[in-house]
Amino acid sequence: MILVVGNTKGGVGKTTLAVQIGLSRARAGRRVWLVDADVQGTASSSIQCRADAEIEPALACSSYSDPRQLRSQVKQQGSNWDDIIIDVGGRDTGALRAALMLADVVLVPFAPMSFDLWAMEDMAKVIEEVNAERDGLVSLAVMNQAEPRAASVDNADAAQAVREIETFTLLEPRLVKRKAFSASSGSGLAVAEQKPVDPRAVAELDRLVKAIYEQQEGSH
Ligand SMILES: Nc1ncnc2c1ncn2[C@@H]1O[C@H](COP(=O)(O)OP(=O)(O)O)[C@@H](O)[C@H]1O
Ligand SMILES: [Mg+2]
Repeated sequence: MILVVGNTKGGVGKTTLAVQIGLSRARAGRRVWLVDADVQGTASSSIQCRADAEIEPALACSSYSDPRQLRSQVKQQGSNWDDIIIDVGGRDTGALRAALMLADVVLVPFAPMSFDLWAMEDMAKVIEEVNAERDGLVSLAVMNQAEPRAASVDNADAAQAVREIETFTLLEPRLVKRKAFSASSGSGLAVAEQKPVDPRAVAELDRLVKAIYEQQEGSH
């Protein structure tokens, strides 16, 4: 399955999620290819930290921010992998559009903040434009950097605003803003490998990964 983690806004957690989802699937024994389609190369730097520290399983990671190269390489190499995860930059780029043309599923992270909600409208438009040229792109939204309090009004309001955008299916699991996510992702560690282990962070990520892949694999 080809999963794109995308949003036209930066700082929403695309790279964090792409790295964590990729590591989670690799640790579960899947053959995972992480494709860094952001010129800034944050995902590949993080995976390089993992390689330098010789942590197993290693993760295959390539960088293609040129849309033509991204398209041709994913087509060329795609059948070698169980899971392909493409991390894109935080703008409406050719690489984002190319990734959306290739993808089975796009996962769009957002934080419960007004600027992020505006960006969701923008991203919905991009997805609708791509969907006019192809069929069957599944568009999932996930709240990231959520407020820790279960009763948070900001979380509830943001979830409601995203539910009202028809383009997206809002996933039930969400990731709270936790040090474990930022610390682990920056050094190429799965959140489950980050010491001291934050069991709530680990559980949130597990639930998210299940929600993304179970629904897809059920339908294939
Ligand atoms: N759930 C989270 N908890 C804590 N920090 C997070 C979380 N998600 C992302 N971050 C932090 O927010 C910043 C932006 O995340 P990043 O994944 O780089 O976003 P993007 O790739 O969309 O630009 C980074 O410093 C990252 O560590
Ligand atoms: Mg990024």
